[in-house]
Amino acid sequence: MSLTFESDDLHASLRDETLGSVSFLNEVMRRYPDAISFAPGAPHPTLYDDLDVPGSVNRFVEHLQTERGLSRTMALRALYEYGPSKGLINELVASALAEDVGLSVHPNAIVITVGAQEAMLLVLRALCRSPNDFLAVVEPCYVGMIGAARVLGVPVVPVEGGARGVDVGEIRRATARVRKAGGRTRALYVAPDFANPSGVIMDEVARRELLEAARAEDLVIIEDMAYGFTAPPAARIAPVKAFDGGDRVVSIGTFSKICMPGARVGFAVADQTVSRRFGPTTLLADEMALIKGMTTVNTSPICQALIGGLLLAEGGSLGARARATGARQRSRLSHLLDVLDRELHDSEMRGRVSWNRPDGGFFVRMQLLVEVDGALLEICARAYKVLWTPMRAFFVERGGERELRLSASYLDLSTIDEGVRRLKAFVSSLPR
Ligand SMILES: Cc1ncc(COP(=O)(O)O)c(C=O)c1O
Repeated sequence: MSLTFESDDLHASLRDETLGSVSFLNEVMRRYPDAISFAPGAPHPTLYDDLDVPGSVNRFVEHLQTERGLSRTMALRALYEYGPSKGLINELVASALAEDVGLSVHPNAIVITVGAQEAMLLVLRALCRSPNDFLAVVEPCYVGMIGAARVLGVPVVPVEGGARGVDVGEIRRATARVRKAGGRTRALYVAPDFANPSGVIMDEVARRELLEAARAEDLVIIEDMAYGFTAPPAARIAPVKAFDGGDRVVSIGTFSKICMPGARVGFAVADQTVSRRFGPTTLLADEMALIKGMTTVNTSPICQALIGGLLLAEGGSLGARARATGARQRSRLSHLLDVLDRELHDSEMRGRVSWNRPDGGFFVRMQLLVEVDGALLEICARAYKVLWTPMRAFFVERGGERELRLSASYLDLSTIDEGVRRLKAFVSSLPR
């Protein structure tokens, strides 16, 4: 007989809706393989067409030989053995950040992580000292961040996001609420560039106001840079960390959207100093690397070599690749918006459905007149063969009850056309 655990006897995060929502979506996609799915936030598979994985890895090996004076055998060993917890490609990532987004950081202040997801776990674990330390998140919020907090048992307080990203008054209200509950708001998570799922980009003024509010409330800003590359060239804005007062920002990035999610390579920039009464001063990045030593030990050196080789191929930058990928992504997003206008803007549909019009990112946020939940998704999948993500998963407490998220990133243009036709049939079937 096998051993049985009571679910209530396992960690509370396992019963949390956030974790459940991701596995539910994957499970629905598996059960309806012929449905068109607007759910995945993954890049389009043509992104990999020109990737030469062995060539990239080899380029990085040659780089280790020339830059670090290693023999070929020793350079290969650096890829095959355990590696430093902080990472192998920190110099290359630092130069790409300076070149591509104007962020100057020392390589020592960077931790190379297993995707941005691990960076979220590490920064939260390092910053939150006790169960009274809260994470504030701008809502709607990427589920991976809420989920990371749940797994670590870090309490989360929502901050309502608006058309400009985040409002200073909302930050104050959230921190006051936490204080009243006897806690301290330790950090605020925000994705300033076409956030997943709101599609909002914060302008320079909003970024400055955010930093001012963070200073006034003594918060660390955790900035997620995942979708900055999708900004139209004229609309590109420097990361919050690059502004005055950016010393209280920990920036998180990923190579999943412009290189390959399967490589699982991301990073955190954590250049804050950590002092101790006895002993040497370190960087927050060093403390995060200590935690990483007890989680994933190090990010796969072979995967780092792949990303390092891609950076080297373009002279220590991903700028050209990011620009081309961003342009292709924008054309997919504007195609989705055009088809929605064409199919869902007629008199029969008026008042029954509405959506936002982001200039970048992967996502469109759609409002219906009915409750949008897993049960409705199931009906839509079975009867109309089209899938999307219920928005309520992106809210900490309440919100998004009548909304869904559409992703334009993973589908071909002709599949988007057919998907929207199916969506129209589904919306037409809903009660007014
Ligand atoms: C805002 C945001 N941050 C981070 C990630 C995940 O990045 P990674 O694949 O590097 O874990 C995603 C993926 O969808 C995302 O939307």
